[in-house]
Amino acid sequence: MKSFIVPIWLLFVQLLSCKALPTSQKTLYQPLDCSAPEVEEAANQALNYINGKHSHGYKFALNQIEDAKTTQSPLGEVYKLELELLETKCHVTSPAAVETCPVRSKIDHAVEGDCDVKLLKTNGNFSVLNVNCKSKPDSAEDACVGCPKLAPLNNTQVLQAVEVSLSQFNSPENQKYYQLLEVGRAQTQVVRGTAVHIEYAIAATNCSTQEAKTALDSCVLLMDDAAEYGFCAGTVINDAVDQQVHVDVNCTVYDTQPGSSFAHTAHKDPSGAPIPHNQLGGPHHNLRHSDLGVGPLSSESASAEIPVVLPAGPIAINPIAKRSVAVAVDPALPHILPLCPGKKYFF
Ligand SMILES: *[C@@H]1O[C@H](CO)[C@@H](O)[C@H](O)[C@H]1NC(C)=O
Ligand SMILES: *[C@@H]1O[C@H](CO)[C@@H](O)[C@H](O)[C@H]1NC(C)=O
Ligand SMILES: *[C@@H]1O[C@H](CO)[C@@H](O)[C@H](O)[C@H]1NC(C)=O
Ligand SMILES: *[C@@H]1O[C@H](CO)[C@@H](O)[C@H](O)[C@H]1NC(C)=O
Repeated sequence: MKSFIVPIWLLFVQLLSCKALPTSQKTLYQPLDCSAPEVEEAANQALNYINGKHSHGYKFALNQIEDAKTTQSPLGEVYKLELELLETKCHVTSPAAVETCPVRSKIDHAVEGDCDVKLLKTNGNFSVLNVNCKSKPDSAEDACVGCPKLAPLNNTQVLQAVEVSLSQFNSPENQKYYQLLEVGRAQTQVVRGTAVHIEYAIAATNCSTQEAKTALDSCVLLMDDAAEYGFCAGTVINDAVDQQVHVDVNCTVYDTQPGSSFAHTAHKDPSGAPIPHNQLGGPHHNLRHSDLGVGPLSSESASAEIPVVLPAGPIAINPIAKRSVAVAVDPALPHILPLCPGKKYFF
């Protein structure tokens, strides 16, 4: 018990010294149980927020809550979570609910996202204060010789494969000509030549294929309620033996989704300037480039801490603190409660 009782005078000293010691006097967070229902609820709110803001590549699913803690602020309870996400196979333009989207397997170079999230709980509702994410493909690098290798999204062979396969999908009698929205993923493989496996998102224009042939520059993407997106998976083989190009492509066009627009969004560099898509050299759409930013309630910079309300008495009325006290009673069993990380949902 003893170590949890802070004398009143010490609190005042700490209050007074706050300004003088801005870095050493950090906000006090209480650890939370990563498998507690309200922590999972907070994590899912954060995931929805991230998927709503992430306008490139694929939707993400929650794999694990790695850490969770809380503190009081004048506005309500602040939750700080560390989340591990996994890329799904549903492109961000897909209307499918993320719960129904399969996660990419490890051998298929799963992409892992790491996010630090801060949420505010007021009247039982969570809202996101800020989010900081980055992602990278699993380095389960090329377990076998001749297996497909992830390729940069702006690779010349990749872009050629996209062009060839998309022109096959855009048949001459099509009333709607579909344009490339973005390349989602690409792999190259050496087989009697080169095979390029590509996945890309497409968007409908106001032209037919015939019109696009003669005046492509005047074709524009259909916008707002007319916006129509789709997704293609294809393989283009430059066969070294028969000297032919074999194209196999399947595209799905989604029903129109009123109110959604992915055409105007762009990757941003740290200064906020847009990064043209063909200059994204990596093999995946990094969450770091998405403008996740800060939630609607945040009036502070991303790194600023929310001021903490000190408890009225010296003993914090907090169930988690009580749990820690129980551990302290038996010093032979430190850290016996596995609070975090929480369970893994996938792998
Ligand atoms: C909390 O969320 C529910 C459901 O989204 C909403 O009906 C309610 O108004 C919200 N409460 C507050 C205080 O924002
Ligand atoms: C498509 O829209 C653009 C811009 O509004 C317009 O200039 C062009 O003529 C339209 N093309 C067709 C085929 O309707
Ligand atoms: C296209 O769909 C067919 C039938 O489902 C499948 O056999 C083929 O592998 C698919 N092609 C690609 C490139 O995904
Ligand atoms: C791909 O993008 C990277 C990074 O911007 C750039 O260095 C590289 O030259 C680009 N490659 C091609 C083929 O455009």
